[in-house]
Amino acid sequence: MDIHGSNFVLRPWRLDDAESLLTYANNARIAANLGDAFPHPYTEKDAEIWLKARVQDKEPFEHFSIDVDGTAVGGIGVITRQGPLRIAAAIGYWLAEPFWGRGIASEALALMTDYAFETFRLLRLEARVFPWNAASARVLKKAGYSFDVRLRNAELHRGVPVDVLLYSQVRHPADSHPRH
Ligand SMILES: CC(C)(COP(=O)(O)OP(=O)(O)OC[C@H]1O[C@@H](n2cnc3c(N)ncnc32)[C@H](O)[C@@H]1OP(=O)(O)O)[C@@H](O)C(=O)NCCC(=O)NCCS
Repeated sequence: MDIHGSNFVLRPWRLDDAESLLTYANNARIAANLGDAFPHPYTEKDAEIWLKARVQDKEPFEHFSIDVDGTAVGGIGVITRQGPLRIAAAIGYWLAEPFWGRGIASEALALMTDYAFETFRLLRLEARVFPWNAASARVLKKAGYSFDVRLRNAELHRGVPVDVLLYSQVRHPADSHPRH
């Protein structure tokens, strides 16, 4: 299943995205703004592990590539939870540097947010942003998220303890019915 933006498509990852991942994901300016689960340097093996996991995914998909003109130039995804935590999920995204500043991430985030609220019957979506990442904070604001709280010493980033800014979007039970 694909989600269409004005000049990109959110579509499931494919094994043949390895080359574009190696071209675009291996970027210190991207890794500097993502948690340590995102590898740096980004190797062929990292691409293989990611894509082999993604092609096992079943619908409804939680992870999509951001595809511009047939090439995966970024990723966006949610991590859902089980049991009583299932009403909330985490969202994250990255975009290849040559495509920054065109409004792609803001539109992709808005589309993915609507998709996730509806598909997973969420009441809350949250994003963790490092304090130096003003561009991502702006993207979140533009997509309808609000700043919740600064979590002090919330995680290790490349070995250094850092604060995390928590952003969220909340919808009301009347708009979205939790999974039973
Ligand atoms: C953050 C990221 C996704 C933004 O993607 P993008 O497609 O360039 O974002 P958009 O063009 O939709 O919007 C960027 C907004 O941030 C603003 N911005 C960019 N750099 C900025 C900065 N240093 N300070 C403040 N605002 C900034 C832009 O002006 C724009 O806002 P505007 O439309 O009001 O002018 C991209 O830079 C990226 O992948 N970064 C590395 C990974 C990352 O940070 N992921 C998110 C982790 S929480």
